[in-house]
Amino acid sequence: MQKYKVIDAKLDTVEYPILIGENVIDQILDLIEKHTKNSKIIIVGDTFFQNGICASVENKLSDKFEIYSYYMDAGKGNKSINEVLKIFGILEENNLARDSVLIAVGGGVIGDLAGFVASTWLRGMNLIHIPTTLMAMVDSSVGGKVAINYRQTINAIGNYYHPMGNIMDLTFIDTLSHRDYLSGLAEVIKCAMINDKDFFEYLETNKDVVLKKDHDVLIELITKAITIKIDHVNGDLREGGKRLLLNYGHTLGHAIEISTEKNGHEQLRHGEGVSIGIVAVAYIATQYLNISKSIFERYENIFNNYGLPTKISASELGFDKETLLHKCFDNVKKDKKRLDNNIRLILSDEIGSAKVYNDVPFELIQEAFEYVIEE
Ligand SMILES: NC(=O)c1ccc[n+]([C@@H]2O[C@H](COP(=O)([O-])OP(=O)(O)OC[C@H]3O[C@@H](n4cnc5c(N)ncnc54)[C@H](O)[C@@H]3O)[C@@H](O)[C@H]2O)c1
Repeated sequence: MQKYKVIDAKLDTVEYPILIGENVIDQILDLIEKHTKNSKIIIVGDTFFQNGICASVENKLSDKFEIYSYYMDAGKGNKSINEVLKIFGILEENNLARDSVLIAVGGGVIGDLAGFVASTWLRGMNLIHIPTTLMAMVDSSVGGKVAINYRQTINAIGNYYHPMGNIMDLTFIDTLSHRDYLSGLAEVIKCAMINDKDFFEYLETNKDVVLKKDHDVLIELITKAITIKIDHVNGDLREGGKRLLLNYGHTLGHAIEISTEKNGHEQLRHGEGVSIGIVAVAYIATQYLNISKSIFERYENIFNNYGLPTKISASELGFDKETLLHKCFDNVKKDKKRLDNNIRLILSDEIGSAKVYNDVPFELIQEAFEYVIEE
């Protein structure tokens, strides 16, 4: 029996279906026909799927639609204005309209970039997300944030834009590397830490089941994570309140992610930055909020047990420790969520709960970087 589930995402003024399960990609034609009479579609896909799943989606749709396509490699360096301009070129040359459909097939890099294109082309065209990594399923394709990087600034140019449908086909997870699977799991664990103690305890005690990637378990994990995400985004699209909590671990994690890049190439996955960033803010919470040592250890241990990094070695990544610490601190000061000159941090005060803090001293942030960055 085909395993699948549909979640009705209600986000502010929009409502759209999220399909999670086996072979749900087969429902794409129905989804498009329900929404538009326009005959043009563009697929923006990760090159990894060009000759496989994307070719079969193109085939399936080509009887009824004119299909254009653009394939690109993932990697944060490609989440760039140059790629956006190439796609605009195809849209303009072929006269795609607002009611044409852009289908984004890929991980967070493709989804963020293609979503940004859809949100800006003619002030917004139809968008369908087909996320292919766990990171993209549980996080980047839900919540409406779309963006590209600019120079050293991650997600510098962006927008808020919801798709008309989101198709999470679990067959993609089967081909995903273990490292990328873990990277997505970091966001799932984060959701539990900020919102759901029982879920956290489930993840703590069911590592073997979770790592098996069984489809029933995946449907439940993804559903839990996106339900928490939708709950935090609904009513706070622009991040003035509860949505901020989803950034738990991200402020310091982003800074570490960017600072460790070499010649524009990432050395850490997004989720790896998040797991290290969470350990850093949990360290801060032990000093600033006096959280117990046992909570701190449970936070650090869950990542270690799953095989996610909780510390990095500066020399292994090609830096000396002092230089890397300086870079991290400079980058954290550029964080988008800062308030005037204060760095805004999310701290978890107990398992399953988190709050926003605007006045954590710089010295403590420096100390936290020193905790997670080794020689
Ligand atoms: N918009 C948001 O709210 C949000 C949230 C979290 C992360 N992000 C963004 O997401 C990006 C990271 O996303 P990601 O981790 O998915 O990275 P990614 O898109 O770079 O994908 C990681 C790697 O997996 C490969 N891949 C993708 N799907 C595959 C599959 N099914 N099988 C085998 N290989 C596959 C890709 O080619 C790539 O090499 C970052 O740019 C980050 O800023 C955005």
